[in-house]
Amino acid sequence: MRVVSGIKPTGNLHLGNYLGAVKQWVAMQDEIQAAGGETMYFIADLHGLTEWIAPAELTANTIEMTATLVAAGIDPERSILFNQTRVPAHSELAWLLNNVARVGWLNRMTQFKDKAGKNREGASVGLYDYPVLMAADVLLYNATHVPVGEDQKQHLELARDIATKFNQDYQTELFTLPEPLISAAAPRIMSLRDASAKMSKSNPSVQSVVKLVDSDSEIADKFRKAKTDPEALPDSWEALAERPEARNLVTIFAALADRTPQDVVAEFAGQGFGQFKPVLADLAVAKLGPIRDEMVRLLNDRAAIDAILARGAEKARDLAAPVLADAQRAMGLLA
Ligand code: TYM
Repeated sequence: MRVVSGIKPTGNLHLGNYLGAVKQWVAMQDEIQAAGGETMYFIADLHGLTEWIAPAELTANTIEMTATLVAAGIDPERSILFNQTRVPAHSELAWLLNNVARVGWLNRMTQFKDKAGKNREGASVGLYDYPVLMAADVLLYNATHVPVGEDQKQHLELARDIATKFNQDYQTELFTLPEPLISAAAPRIMSLRDASAKMSKSNPSVQSVVKLVDSDSEIADKFRKAKTDPEALPDSWEALAERPEARNLVTIFAALADRTPQDVVAEFAGQGFGQFKPVLADLAVAKLGPIRDEMVRLLNDRAAIDAILARGAEKARDLAAPVLADAQRAMGLLA
C-alpha cells in the first residue's frame, strides 16, 4: 500500500484543505504504516505555476506550507515530504503521459472550466495540462491510495484512465490504478459567506476562509460572523438538507471534533446559531491555535524546513527513477 497526495503552495493552508485532506494525511501515517505501507506527501509547486504567482511568494509559500504540514502532524521521519520541483521525474513522466491523455478527456475537466472561466483562450497551457501532471505525480510511485477532497476526484479518475490506456497501448502492467480516498467526515468545506462555493484561497472575501495562520481572534470572528439562517438547529441531520450554511457549520464542527454530523445535530437540537457559533468558534481556536503556534515556531528556522524538503526529495527520487525508466523503455525511448 502506498499513499501519495499533494497540495499547492498558492496560499496558506485553510480549513478546507486541512479538514478535506491534510487531517486525513496525518491519520494515514499511523494506519498505513501499521499495515506496512508508505505515505508520501508533496508540495505541488509545479501546479502552483499554472496560475500567475509572484516568484518570491511561491518560494515563501512553499516553505510556509511545509512548516504548516509538519505542525499539523506530518512527520518527515515517517512520511516522505518533498516538493515536486526537486524530483524532475514528475515533469518527465508528465510529458510521456501527455501523449497518452486525449484532448477530449481534458476538455471535460470541470476545474479547468471553473478556473479558466470565460477567458479560455487566455488560460495557460499549464492550467489545461494540470491533470496530466497530477496523474504523473501518483503513477510515478504506483500509489494505491490518494487522499483528496471531493473536488479532485475527477482528476484522479483521469489518472486511472491514463494508466489504463498506457498499460494497454504499451502492453504492460506498469501502472497501478490509484484509488481516490475522499474523507467521509469532511468531503467538501464551503465558504463561510456563501455555502454554494467551496472554501478556497482564491475567494475574494477574507471572511469566507479560515486560514491556519489566522490568530485566535480572527478564527473566532470568522465563525461568529459566518452566514447562517435564523432557524434553530433541528433534531436530525437530514432536516438540514435545504440549509447549506447550517450544514456547512455542522460539518466543520463534526470534523474538528472527530464526531459525526448526526451526533452534533443531536447535541444542539433546538438551539439557534447564536448559541452554536460561539461553541464552534472556541472549538476551532482550540484545534487550530496550537498548529499555528507550532508553525510559527518552525518558521524561525527556514533552513531546517528546507533541509526536510531536500531529504524527502532524495528518497522520492530513488523511488521514482526505476518507474520512469520502465515507462521510457516501454515506449521505446532510448534513455
Ligand atoms: P489544493 O492545494 O487545491 O488542495 C489540497 C487538498 O485540499 C482539498 N481541498 C478541499 N477539501 C474540502 N473542502 C475544500 N473547500 C477544499 N479545498 C481544497 C483538495 O481536494 C486537495 O485534496 N490538485 C491538487 C494538488 C495535487 C495533488 C496531486 C493531489 C497535485 N498533484 C496528486 C493528489 C495527488 C489540489 O488541487 O490541491
